[in-house]
Amino acid sequence: MNIKEIISVKVIQALEDAGAPAHSNPLVSQTMKKQFGDYQVNGIIGVANKLGIASRQLAQRVLNHLDLKGIASKVEIAGPGFMNIFLDSAWIAKQVKISLEDDRLGISPVKIQTIVVDYSSPNVAKEMHIGHLRSTIMGDASVRTLEFLGHKVIRANHIGDWGTQFGMLIAYFNKNQNKHVNDMNIADLESAYREAHNLYYKDPEFAENARAYVVKLQGGCKVCKNIWQKIVDITMLHNQKSYNRLKVTLTKDDVMGESMYHTMIPEIVADLKDKGLAIESEGAIVVFLEDYKNKHNKPMGIIIQKKDSGYLYATSDIACAKYRYETLGANRILYYIDSRQHQHLMQTWSIVRKAGYVPDSVSLEHHMFGMMLGKDGKPFKTRAGSNIKLSDLLDEAVNRASKLIAKKNKNLSYEELEHAAEVVGIGAIKYADLSKSRTTDYIFDWDKMLSFDGNTAPYIQYAYTRISSIFKRIPFDSSTLTGDIILTEECEKSLAISLIQFEEIITQVAREGTAHIMCSYLYNLAGMFSSFYEHCPILKATSESQRKSRLELAALTARTLKIGLGTLGIETVERM
Ligand code: ARG
Repeated sequence: MNIKEIISVKVIQALEDAGAPAHSNPLVSQTMKKQFGDYQVNGIIGVANKLGIASRQLAQRVLNHLDLKGIASKVEIAGPGFMNIFLDSAWIAKQVKISLEDDRLGISPVKIQTIVVDYSSPNVAKEMHIGHLRSTIMGDASVRTLEFLGHKVIRANHIGDWGTQFGMLIAYFNKNQNKHVNDMNIADLESAYREAHNLYYKDPEFAENARAYVVKLQGGCKVCKNIWQKIVDITMLHNQKSYNRLKVTLTKDDVMGESMYHTMIPEIVADLKDKGLAIESEGAIVVFLEDYKNKHNKPMGIIIQKKDSGYLYATSDIACAKYRYETLGANRILYYIDSRQHQHLMQTWSIVRKAGYVPDSVSLEHHMFGMMLGKDGKPFKTRAGSNIKLSDLLDEAVNRASKLIAKKNKNLSYEELEHAAEVVGIGAIKYADLSKSRTTDYIFDWDKMLSFDGNTAPYIQYAYTRISSIFKRIPFDSSTLTGDIILTEECEKSLAISLIQFEEIITQVAREGTAHIMCSYLYNLAGMFSSFYEHCPILKATSESQRKSRLELAALTARTLKIGLGTLGIETVERM
């Protein structure tokens, strides 16, 4: 159940009955302080101001019409017209039961949408960089969240697999009689790429050759296509290993690279010309956008076809948005790309909308994110200043996690420790990224992310193991946990309310792509469990029914933590 939603619907109705316009926003939110109840309504004052009436008076009228029978035990008006709502314990207990009896924590069915999520999207012939890591982690959390809610999700790994670099690489391999093409790894590819790149700018003959190969490749030349495929395969095989280790759900079937849109583009360029949106300018085909100005304060020109007839990154993004709507049937399209590409996307989508390729009813959303910085506030690099390899980063995380866990628990077997270190190390890296509001840059800090204190993965994973250990000490049969939930103590009630707020949280995260909201929720829930465990003894409960009720609350907490972390792509272990 979505408590916020349930209360909002009731308050909207009461507002209407009290004479306010239909669909006024009641601004319902969770309260921060218990003395103000569990939820508060903050929108009445704004509505009263619009109507030109006294806000406290309107609040009283709304209260007279508000029907929260069975849900709230008390509703009061506060200050100039706020409303404080105190949830009824019996109602909370009933909701906890509903969650307990359902594998999906009692969340209500959603109106199913087809949602395309563009994420990871590394470039071919190069190692993934830190920006791709962030996109991969955040995109995968988003995908898992949306799927958990029941949506149809299409993963789109928009890899950079097209463009002049392939001409360079093919020319380079050719120059070397294609010697190593069959036994290259990603490092060989990267160095070939660097050398090809150098040659391209130093040697005009090589450059011409490279350009000719691009044309050949685009024209469907079989030999070129074969080399191209090899380059793509080597890169993606390498990336797949990172995905697997990171427990990211992408597979090779999700690759929808730039090359895929290649054949759609000529028709789109012709269509944009027909519609009068694109014109020829200095030999290139350009769309001028009134809503973006260049430095001379004239409409900004977006080149969609170069003088040499080649296409650009923007052109493939126009085609790709069209494809995602038209062919994939998307209702929503989310892009996890760093904020430096925001302008690029906005301009591309402006063209897409003007051309009518994607209707306004389908949202195009840039779920952008900032950079990952080192402790010095500069882009995160190795001490020697080179880019950090993803596999090295993950190895270090697991090593550090292993030391951390070994210190805490000396009784783990070698296998248990090894497994826990992998789960905690990878979890810590992912959680560190997900727990910060994604729009800002974030500082990578080993000590903070790998700590059992604070808003970290290890903290929540550890809370989970504590609950698991309770159930190990009290062998119980879950089928006997059928009694009522009893909420007499304040910490029982707080924990119970937090538990039934899961749907409210996941709904918001799914809508906004803000995984940090889920992280804070889980962190608070784990904290709430700690104080519950401290103040409400389970083994020494005063009665059998109280003991059972507390065990049920503990069981639901463990499940919520596990499922919640699961939506973030983070695993749990039973012991650490
Ligand atoms: N390959 C691009 C890069 O590394 C990211 C692609 C993102 N997706 C898109 N549809 N443009 O910068």
